[in-house]
Amino acid sequence: MQLAVIGVGHVGLVTAACFAELGHQVVAVDQDTARIEGLQHGKMPFYEPELEPLVRRHLASQRLRVTTTIAEGVRQAQLIFICVGTPQRPDGSADLAAVEHVVCDIAQHLSDYRLIIEKSTVPVETGHWIERTLQRHVKAGVEFDVASNPEFLREGTAVHDFLHPDRIVLGVSSARAQQLLLQLYAPLKAPIVTTDVKSAELIKHASNAFLAMKISFINAIAQVCERVGADVTDVAEGMGLDPRIGRAFLNAGLGFGGFCFPKDLEAFIRIAEQVGYDFTLLKAVKQINEDQKRHFVRRIESALWVLSGKTIGVLGLAFKAGTDDMRFAPAIDIVRGLCEVGATVRAYDPQALSIANGLFRGLPVTLCNDPYAVAEGADCLAIVTEWPEFKTLDFARLKSLLRQPTIVDGRNLLDPEALRALGFQYVGIGRENPT
Ligand code: UGA
Repeated sequence: MQLAVIGVGHVGLVTAACFAELGHQVVAVDQDTARIEGLQHGKMPFYEPELEPLVRRHLASQRLRVTTTIAEGVRQAQLIFICVGTPQRPDGSADLAAVEHVVCDIAQHLSDYRLIIEKSTVPVETGHWIERTLQRHVKAGVEFDVASNPEFLREGTAVHDFLHPDRIVLGVSSARAQQLLLQLYAPLKAPIVTTDVKSAELIKHASNAFLAMKISFINAIAQVCERVGADVTDVAEGMGLDPRIGRAFLNAGLGFGGFCFPKDLEAFIRIAEQVGYDFTLLKAVKQINEDQKRHFVRRIESALWVLSGKTIGVLGLAFKAGTDDMRFAPAIDIVRGLCEVGATVRAYDPQALSIANGLFRGLPVTLCNDPYAVAEGADCLAIVTEWPEFKTLDFARLKSLLRQPTIVDGRNLLDPEALRALGFQYVGIGRENPT
């Protein structure tokens, strides 16, 4: 099938490359000339495992083309995916200016039937607004349908998630739209949920909000564990074996970050408010998440007594492993929190160093090229991102470089017993009381 994907951010580029992989002809459009020129030379605008070879392969096979002109995409494509950004406005709601702009642009170039599909995470009823906007701007007699096909891609595993989905949600308002989408996804063997457009939009909101709630729930349990001397990882294990609960997303830590959960949660709270429902449950989820970062700084403080004048080695800056993304990363608040109380920070991340470079200007933060450089002269190591490679560091060497052999593990990544056997003071989240 012939497709256009408008917006080559994280969602758009993965979507475009993966549809090409499934055998479709895809034109990916973005107004950012530098980004498109970079892509034409095989340069990725962000780090996402498995994406670069896929993009390069399909640029070469010509199943994927990239351009800055919407007209080029709309002219040939039967299906047009909207994947532009929906950033957060100061009041927490989603800014839909880019979506509206793209819809108007698409409308100008429509000459016969097209299916326009929203894939960006958008508030419920956006589909309805897209339809109204198109009706206002398309030439008389030109038919179209609007559908919602939310994505459930995680950064770091987005290509795998796209090609092996646990479900595909199709929000449609006509049999024609449904048929086109079923044909599009036919190569993927996954359960398909077909709904009306608004329900599909809500499935996305509800899924992200529910996952965020699971994380805040286990972080709240971690707080209780610390107070009574229980271990949250054991509690999560015991809970998770119940198939009604499930073990996934019960890892206590520093709270959720990234450009999806914090933003989507805030937007969902606003949407509920606008339709007259006070979603107090989600407000508590947000509050627990904020507290968890402050709690981590306090955890470091209780391990070291006084933070002022101390040097903290931070391992990991990205909001989670497998990405260079630092948007809403817990590391930002944690590093700032440490500096506010007079500590100095040395930090390392396998992917996010160049992004971090611009974020901590004016603060006493030194970015280092490896974990051992971080440890040099530091009073403690703080694990902030769960990069698997941190598990296999040479801890005896790290101990010899540290001023004090202390590790505060914000992701419960490391083995407390092994570290204690090496002579470290180990402090986890919801695991042990620091002495
Ligand atoms: C999330 C969803 O998982 C995707 O299904 C969705 O498509 C995407 O948002 C989106 O809306 O676009 P993502 O933000 O990439 O994906 O990352 P997750 O793996 O879900 O992690 C989110 C945050 O929760 C991270 O900061 C992670 O460290 C934290 N987390 C996750 C925990 O603290 N504990 C857990 O048990 C799991």
